[in-house]
Amino acid sequence: MKIAFFDTKNYDIESFDSYIKERNIEVKYFEPKLNIDTVELAKGFDGVCVFVNDYLNKDVINRLYELGIKAIFLRCAGFNNVDLTAAFGKIHVYRVPAYSPYAVAEHAMALYLTSNRRIHKAYNRVKEYNFSLSGLAGNDLYGKTVGVIGTGKIGRIFINICRGFGMKVIAYDLFPIKDSDIEYVSLEELFKQSDIISLHCPLTPETTHIINKDSIALMKKGVAIINTSRGGLINSEDLLQGIKDRKIGTVCLDVYEEESDVFFEDKSGHIMNDETLLQLIAMPNVIITSHQAFLTKEALNNIADTTTRNIVDFFSDKLLSDTEVCYHCGNQANCKRERKAKCF
Ligand code: NAI
Repeated sequence: MKIAFFDTKNYDIESFDSYIKERNIEVKYFEPKLNIDTVELAKGFDGVCVFVNDYLNKDVINRLYELGIKAIFLRCAGFNNVDLTAAFGKIHVYRVPAYSPYAVAEHAMALYLTSNRRIHKAYNRVKEYNFSLSGLAGNDLYGKTVGVIGTGKIGRIFINICRGFGMKVIAYDLFPIKDSDIEYVSLEELFKQSDIISLHCPLTPETTHIINKDSIALMKKGVAIINTSRGGLINSEDLLQGIKDRKIGTVCLDVYEEESDVFFEDKSGHIMNDETLLQLIAMPNVIITSHQAFLTKEALNNIADTTTRNIVDFFSDKLLSDTEVCYHCGNQANCKRERKAKCF
């Protein structure tokens, strides 16, 4: 079990080290992200462990296969960065379906509360002994309508948090939960009725740019948009225009369409080239964190536990686990899950 870890940060090493020793896995930590330029680093390993901004397209998958890589272990929930169709029949793909949905849902609300009540501005003022309240007025959350897109693990926790504030919750999901107490509406109605919109669906061809100039046109003036899911859900240019048009009142982002070269890295002292990101950061009603919604001690621990368990299970030839993903999974007729065999 020799695993090449890509895009490794110090907090990954801290959380993984004890599990790796305990479960007898041989690991080499690499700082670079896995992509076509770095794929040769995987030579001599049995598997690769990757994160959200490693880019495993068809070419990378095919080269990994030639190098003898048997499995890809994602240490995250989303898998939009892996070409599953290219991987099927060659390399097995595992993920960590849930490590702390609470971490992400709580961060989404933390971003909104910070922005709405101007906590970030107040903090800086008081540090400089400026106790003025001017410009710090926010809005009550009580009685406001929040529209939640995606009512999976994170979306449902976010809904409960909102209900705690006395907000009215409406939701849209491609697969609504049957017999639940969630009020589902069409996507169009959600855009029209919501004071706050929070995205909790995966990035798929259908959800790419679900927030765009047409959907923004349907929204209330002053709407708040929260995105802790994936950057590609929002057309960033259209978002920026919506802010400039004074249509969008608040933007809270933990993810960004073009985040892969910037987020998770210290870019202070660098000249940034992404004009859209620069303008978004400069806006007074935009708050951005660098894909940190998952970052709690509990989540890091669960990620390390499940990922190393996936590695051990795969190489000890256990049957298909719930943590394996393949593009067949939506297709019950052909899916081997039902027969409890490995995917291929
Ligand atoms: P989940 O799989 O439990 O829920 C996703 C929900 O989205 C499901 O109910 C599904 O039916 C729904 N959905 C699928 N296609 C849809 C569509 N076209 N329109 C509307 N809804 C659709 O996933 P979970 O754990 O709640 O995570 C949600 C997303 O959060 C992940 O896909 C991931 O991108 C993101 N995430 C972000 C993190 C961060 O640190 N910022 C950490 C973990 C996850």
